[in-house]
Amino acid sequence: MSKYLILIGLILLPTVVSARWIKDIVTINNDAVGSVAFSHYQHLDALGKNCVLCHNRIFQINPKKNRPVSMAEMEQGKSCGACHNGETAFSVKENCESCHE
Ligand code: HEC
Ligand code: HEC
Ligand code: HEC
Repeated sequence: MSKYLILIGLILLPTVVSARWIKDIVTINNDAVGSVAFSHYQHLDALGKNCVLCHNRIFQINPKKNRPVSMAEMEQGKSCGACHNGETAFSVKENCESCHE
């Protein structure tokens, strides 16, 4: 009996741990423009529960390891611009107020 419970636990664990237990809104603080909010939940809904799409290829999980990125670099495909290029998602070349208040 307990073997089955452990098995069920192991199957459920990844979905539970990787989805709603993480912090939804994380903020990226930039000296020039203040903080930009990023929603994990909205992105997981849009992309699937696929952490490795972003971690640690585009963003280090440890915020201290992410150096500030400029909009010019984003337009070249860095940071948010890896997807916000007008194809995968709306472009960083416009829609400023979608990310900046
Ligand atoms: C679409 C991109 C993207 C996806 C997918 C994503 N994250 Fe993140 N995550 C970010 C960004 C952006 C940050 C903030 C980085 C920063 O502050 O420099 C972050 C930060 C984090 C942090 C640090 C939070 C803090 O404030 O200390 C953790 C933990 C984390 N993510 C876990 C996950 C897990 C687990 C998944 C999969 C369920 C996931 N992330 C999926 C983009 C993503
Ligand atoms: C791995 C790809 C990916 C990365 C990286 C990414 N996004 Fe997104 N984002 C998406 C997709 C896909 C959508 C949904 C489609 C759309 O809105 O064009 C989205 C939607 C959004 C939305 C609209 C959410 C809503 O539904 O209202 C905001 C705001 C946003 N992203 C901000 C950011 C910010 C800020 C960053 C960088 C810190 C970022 N994204 C990085 C793929 C990504
Ligand atoms: C997909 C989300 C997103 C969109 C769209 C976006 N930005 Fe940003 N922007 C960010 C994030 C996140 C940062 C902070 C990056 C960092 O510090 O690593 C930032 C930083 C900046 C900075 C400071 C860095 C620099 O390049 O000087 C300025 C200025 C800026 N944005 C202006 C704009 C303008 C103007 C637009 C519209 C043409 C725009 N942003 C569109 C997410 C976005």
